[in-house]
Amino acid sequence: MRTQTNAVIQAIFKRRSIGRLRTPGPSEAELITILRSGAAAPDHKVTRPFWFVVFEGKARGEFGEVLVESLLNRAAKENFQPTSGQIEKERTKFMRAPLVIAVMALRHSEIELPAQEIISAGAAAAQNMLIAATSLGYGSIWRTGSPAYDRDVKIALGVGEDDFIIGFLYFGSLDEGVEPEPNKPELSSIVSVWEG
Ligand SMILES: Cc1cc2nc3c(=O)[nH]c(=O)nc-3n(C[C@H](O)[C@H](O)[C@H](O)COP(=O)(O)O)c2cc1C
Repeated sequence: MRTQTNAVIQAIFKRRSIGRLRTPGPSEAELITILRSGAAAPDHKVTRPFWFVVFEGKARGEFGEVLVESLLNRAAKENFQPTSGQIEKERTKFMRAPLVIAVMALRHSEIELPAQEIISAGAAAAQNMLIAATSLGYGSIWRTGSPAYDRDVKIALGVGEDDFIIGFLYFGSLDEGVEPEPNKPELSSIVSVWEG
């Protein structure tokens, strides 16, 4: 069976998680396109639960200090001793790409929605951004880890402790000559047809 295709579908299949991301990152105009793509995601009851925080340049290193502090607070609370390697990893995390966007999904003060629906809208925004960046020729990766569930990190990002950090999206150029293997989803293991 021939698969129908166009530029959007090609970007969806082309997107892969890329850990090694280089400069240059997206330009200011491309960044706006990526952010607008996120903002265009669907959400139930049109509460627009999205909140995006952009990190470029030295802001990435500064936020590393927030991540270190949150690790140390977690360690004190949960009674573990982080290694110097773990601390350094937090400090330099956001330096792994020229552009990082933290994607949050917020609870509405008056319109109550199940958490699943708020998170789903945030995840749709994140995926839209990844696809937009892929389409513009950039590599990307969606990361979470402990900081995504950390109260101190949420507060630093300007959201409440009951809101959700959907992920930290990293964007940048691919190493020269690197063309990631496109996604080839195997449908037979995840699709069934309701026969009625
Ligand atoms: C909610 C979510 C959280 C993720 N967190 C991480 C992470 O912390 N570190 C990481 O290396 N990849 C993370 N990933 C990327 C996945 O590992 C990746 O999407 C998966 O391996 C499939 O590979 P693909 O994106 O190339 O299709 C995350 C993906 C999602 C959707």
